[in-house]
Amino acid sequence: MNKIDWNELIQAAEGVRQNAYAPYSRFTVGAALKGKSGRVYIGCNVENSSFGLTMCAERNAVFQAVAAGEREFIALVLVAGESSGGALCPPCGACRQVLAEMCAADMPIALVAGQKRSIHRLGDLLPLTFDHTFVDQAAAK
Ligand code: THU
Repeated sequence: MNKIDWNELIQAAEGVRQNAYAPYSRFTVGAALKGKSGRVYIGCNVENSSFGLTMCAERNAVFQAVAAGEREFIALVLVAGESSGGALCPPCGACRQVLAEMCAADMPIALVAGQKRSIHRLGDLLPLTFDHTFVDQAAAK
């Protein structure tokens, strides 16, 4: 169950990217997050005319997963569309923080754009993570 089938995740992320709602940036992103259960959770970016309300693909995938009861994750794939000019789409800072809440630092994140690929550990993308340990300490006082 825990084996990572990267092709499965790339296909899922590419599929959901087609549903991205990005009329303002035209920058379409798809995310596929694999849970320990074997289930795959997908998300695309959803923009808003009030720009700050835009939600990224990764966070939509994480929130779907948590709502479904999944709490442990083994891999994430992030696919950017042609609109990225062929560039890989690294997760934004807000998404890194949200991913760090739910996923282990050694979880692999694959970035895909066309034939381009790169793979990173979450912990390398968000070093010196502000996590629950800081809040726990303050709350214990
Ligand atoms: N975007 C994502 O979906 N994920 C990221 O990590 C970076 C940015 C989206 C948000 C917005 O709809 C578009 O890309 C341009 O910023």
